Amino acid sequence: MIELSNIIKSFNGNLVLKDINLHIQKNKIYAILGPSGSGKSTLLRCINLLEIADSGNMRLCDVNIDFKSKIKKYDILKIRKHTGMVFQNYNLFANKTALQNITQSLISVHKYKKQQAYEIGMYYLSLVGLKDKANFYPNALSGGQQQRIGIARALAFNPDIILLDEPTSALDPELVDEVLNTIKLIKDKTMILVTHELHFAQKIADMIIFMSDGEIIEVSTPNNFFNSPKTIRAQQFLSKFNNYTDYII
Ligand SMILES: Nc1ncnc2c1ncn2[C@@H]1O[C@H](COP(=O)(O)OP(=O)(O)OP(=O)(O)O)[C@@H](O)[C@H]1O
Ligand SMILES: [Mg+2]
Repeated sequence: MIELSNIIKSFNGNLVLKDINLHIQKNKIYAILGPSGSGKSTLLRCINLLEIADSGNMRLCDVNIDFKSKIKKYDILKIRKHTGMVFQNYNLFANKTALQNITQSLISVHKYKKQQAYEIGMYYLSLVGLKDKANFYPNALSGGQQQRIGIARALAFNPDIILLDEPTSALDPELVDEVLNTIKLIKDKTMILVTHELHFAQKIADMIIFMSDGEIIEVSTPNNFFNSPKTIRAQQFLSKFNNYTDYII
């Protein structure tokens, strides 16, 4: 589904992704874990071209990107049609209702008719349990509700791939579960989730990708990663979580 080869990305001479190679399989759930600053968000953003890597190649569905060449607008659009993104801070439009937040790109980018977009929007609002909030503006919704709208928006155009960057880290602890439960509703998608929720990652992911200092250090099953991490860096990362043993199956 996605093949990343030799991806390099730096910001002002600071090397943030150091030769990333990664194969993402269709309809599997991947959780990216790792310390702060290790390049998790940058990697996710390079995948949907919110950031442009300095070099390397990406194949995503039917799109081939050579980061050394100028990226065509047409390819950016194609990548965006394949990928729905959920952001840490929801990124909802404050001046649009919950429903309009979902329908806007359906109409402007994906060229749905208004009525069709409305029906799709209402369907996804129901899916995330917020049909009754369709006409509410974001500031009248809790953080958890806003993020559930963010998830509905990412799902609404039926992308093959969902990218989630710490979707619960801006939330008060009591609101985290409602968003995690909403993520569990996502079916038949390829999903890449950056998270600090280790327990959730262990339960939901097919594969764990552990990053440290701009590199992918381990790619392994949750069972292997949490029970017998191969590298010292992964062991150190896991030992920082006091209740690490809670995560062992
Ligand atoms: N737009 C940017 N301009 C300059 N430096 C950046 C930019 N985005 C990220 N960086 C730097 O790249 C490095 C990796 O950042 P990134 O946000 O990818 O880390 P992360 O693993 O997502 O961290 P966190 O867990 O804190 O979200 C950091 O050192 C960060 O300061
Ligand atoms: Mg991040």
